[in-house]
Amino acid sequence: MGRLFYFYKIAKCKFKNNYIPKPKPPLPCHSPKGEPVHVRAAAVHGFTFNVNRFAFRRMTRQRSFEFEFVFEFSCLYFINFANFFKQGFVSYKMVKIGNIELGGFPLLLAPMEDVSDPPFRALCKEQGCDMMYTEFISVEGLIRDATKSLQKLDIYDEERPIGIQIFGAELSSMMRAAEIVEEAKPEVLDINFGCPVKKVVNKMCGAGILQDIPKMVELTRAVVNSTSLPVTVKTRLGWDDSTKYIVEVAERLQDVGIRALSIHGRTRKQMYKGEADWTLIGEIKNNPRISIPIFGNGDIDSPQKAELYRNRYGVDGIMIGRASIGYPWIFREIKHYFKTGEILPPPTTEERVGAARQHLRHSIEWKGERLGVLEMRRHYTNYFRGFPHIKKYRSQLVTNLEPEVLFGVLDEIEETYCEFEMMNS
Ligand SMILES: Cc1cc2nc3c(=O)[nH]c(=O)nc-3n(C[C@H](O)[C@H](O)[C@H](O)COP(=O)(O)O)c2cc1C
Repeated sequence: MGRLFYFYKIAKCKFKNNYIPKPKPPLPCHSPKGEPVHVRAAAVHGFTFNVNRFAFRRMTRQRSFEFEFVFEFSCLYFINFANFFKQGFVSYKMVKIGNIELGGFPLLLAPMEDVSDPPFRALCKEQGCDMMYTEFISVEGLIRDATKSLQKLDIYDEERPIGIQIFGAELSSMMRAAEIVEEAKPEVLDINFGCPVKKVVNKMCGAGILQDIPKMVELTRAVVNSTSLPVTVKTRLGWDDSTKYIVEVAERLQDVGIRALSIHGRTRKQMYKGEADWTLIGEIKNNPRISIPIFGNGDIDSPQKAELYRNRYGVDGIMIGRASIGYPWIFREIKHYFKTGEILPPPTTEERVGAARQHLRHSIEWKGERLGVLEMRRHYTNYFRGFPHIKKYRSQLVTNLEPEVLFGVLDEIEETYCEFEMMNS
């Protein structure tokens, strides 16, 4: 109300005197100490508002009302109001999965087999990812103590909140796996009903279940009843173009107790082809029956697209997959853009090499030397995308097995391209 009152007072004075001066950017204001302060339009509205108000009061006490100031203040108030509307009123409500608070409009790292392991997740977390999921874990592997499946249960406190994702088709195995997952103490248990890979769908797992919605609902209910963890589901629009039942499926899954739903805007038949269509995701958000958070997924690869899809489809948060591979900075870029409307400069060479170095080091620590080195190979291209003449270094990175050699190559890349960066800046 205070803001409205001051704005009204200024506007009234301004219009009453019919004074229309020319604007002079940047707009000066006076701090409580009296020295001029340049108030940037994009500054946090609460702070600028308080500075302005203080200065405003002081000036009205000390001197007569000068129109010049009136105009400037009215501009400032206008800007503050614009910011207030943009950042204050249109602030996003706290998104919760069960009792887990994710903040307003969270950005989630998509579960990705062979990608979203702890070394990669650590990088995404550092860049502002609000929640992430493990790679999918076979329930059959889990209940049979398969080493690879058990290793995927490894989670670290710094990564929280985190969801462990499972896939399977057998009711009893899903229920037993839910108990095993609970012992690993993640914040969330996620069920994968979206993987399109042939060997998975042939067993009626992953997206295969989209051909049998009653079974999908039954499996989900069984998992929800087998664990005290909040259960979430990640799925696709449907099996193919003629079976996009996701709007009804969302209601049925909510009714059996899931606490959030992530939807990839493609059918199984599309695999990863074409463009993700979020129309039905938006429809689910508009369904008054739906009260759980709905996370949109598919093709978000820039801050502008994230904002466009956020506004257009009204989702509660966005899940990002491929755009984060070798580019964890996507999270900080989107967050910064949402907050300020500005595009951050891309990461420096030092940051890119630093991330690759950290990724390699953690991979070796977590998977052992040989596997850590081998599995890191798929990431180099992405970390150094766009580097001119990188081929020579990349082939060294993907052929050498000794960590010392690899770290040496990374040092060399840093040296070469930092110089190149400086020459071009
Ligand atoms: C390499 C790779 C592995 C994936 N593994 C999984 C997985 O384990 N579980 C899952 O639910 N989705 C998986 N997905 C699908 C992604 O989570 C996501 O739904 C998809 O990539 C679309 O999002 P994007 O356009 O942001 O990449 C995988 C995708 C990729 C590219």
